[in-house]
Amino acid sequence: MKLVFIGSGYVGLVSGIMLAYLGHEVVCIDSDEKKIQALKNHKLPIYEPGLEKYFRSTLSNEYLTFASHYNALKFSPDAVFITVGTPSLPNGDADLQYVINATMEAVQNTSVDTAIVIKSTVPPGTAKMLEEMIREKGYVHKVISNPEFLREGSAIQDFMNPDRIVVGTESPESKDLMEKIYQHFIQNDYNILFTCQTSSELAKYASNAFLATKIAFINEMANLCEKTGADVDLVAKAMGMDPRIGPAFLKAGPGFGGSCFPKDIMALEYLAKVHDANCYVLSSVISSNQRRAKDIVSKIKLVLGDLNDKMIAVLGLTFKAGTDDIRASPAIEIIKLLAMEGAYICAYDPEGMKNASSVINIDMASSYQSAARNSDAIVILTEWPEFTKMDYEILKSEMREKVIFDYRNILDPKIVRNSGFKIYQIGKR
Ligand code: UGA
Repeated sequence: MKLVFIGSGYVGLVSGIMLAYLGHEVVCIDSDEKKIQALKNHKLPIYEPGLEKYFRSTLSNEYLTFASHYNALKFSPDAVFITVGTPSLPNGDADLQYVINATMEAVQNTSVDTAIVIKSTVPPGTAKMLEEMIREKGYVHKVISNPEFLREGSAIQDFMNPDRIVVGTESPESKDLMEKIYQHFIQNDYNILFTCQTSSELAKYASNAFLATKIAFINEMANLCEKTGADVDLVAKAMGMDPRIGPAFLKAGPGFGGSCFPKDIMALEYLAKVHDANCYVLSSVISSNQRRAKDIVSKIKLVLGDLNDKMIAVLGLTFKAGTDDIRASPAIEIIKLLAMEGAYICAYDPEGMKNASSVINIDMASSYQSAARNSDAIVILTEWPEFTKMDYEILKSEMREKVIFDYRNILDPKIVRNSGFKIYQIGKR
């Protein structure tokens, strides 16, 4: 099939590259000329483990090309995938201006047979609204909802082994088209669920909100564990053995971040308010997570006392491991609060320092060892595998005080203690 992706951000690039890898002819269009030029020069603007290999192979067999406008297209596409951003407006609602503009541009530049597939995360009712909007302008293109569920850091694995592909359309032609696009997954018995447009759109938001709820819940249980002497990892393990609960997304930590959960749950809360639908859980999850950074700083203060002039080595800046993304990263929020308390911060992250330096002004080190130099404590905020293999002998000689706050629970406390350190973890005494 001939496919166009509008918006070469995270979702657009990963899905475009992988659908090209599966044999479709894909053109990624982005209005950012610089980005398109870099992509044409074989430079990926995002860090995603394993993506480079697929990027190069699809470029070399010419299944994947790039353009900054439709007029460069050599074919009329079967589908235009809209993968532009839907950032938060100040009131929490999703800003749909980019989706609307991309959809209008798509219908103006393609034939009536081209389907518009909305992959951007959009509030329920958007596909129907877009369809009405383009009808009013005299276009008859079908608008299909097809949300994306892949995670940064494991995007290739998630794309190639989806738990489900959700397609919102009630048109038999659109269903046929999407079955052709996802033929590889149908042949390999992956779940494809066809729903109406609005259910598909809400399924995406509800999935993210539910996962965020699990995390906020286990983080609160961790607080209780610290008071009662229970161990949150064991509590989560026991809970996860119940198939009705499941083990995923029960890892306590510094709070959920990233470009999706915080934004999507706020958009859902806004939607609930607008429709006067009672969704009390959503508001609780938002405030629980917003308080998390403060909770973490209080835990540190409980051990270190006054933070004024304390030297703290922060390990991990990205919102999770396996990405260079620092958007809504709990680490950034926690660093800001520590700095406000007068602490001096030196940070290290294997991938996120470049992005972080554009939002916070702190010292960054080129390794965990040099970040730890003369520090009063190490605070681990991202679960990078590198931090599980730290050399405690070196750290002992570098640090002023031997204190480690492992707020991703990635270290073996016995080993750390036997190496002469005090260790504090989430949800453990
Ligand atoms: C999330 C969803 O998991 C994807 O299914 C979805 O497609 C994506 O949003 C999106 O809407 O685009 P992502 O933001 O890449 O993916 O990251 P996650 O792996 O879900 O992690 C989100 C946050 O929760 C991170 O800060 C992570 O550290 C935190 N987390 C996750 C925990 O604190 N504990 C856990 O057990 C799991």
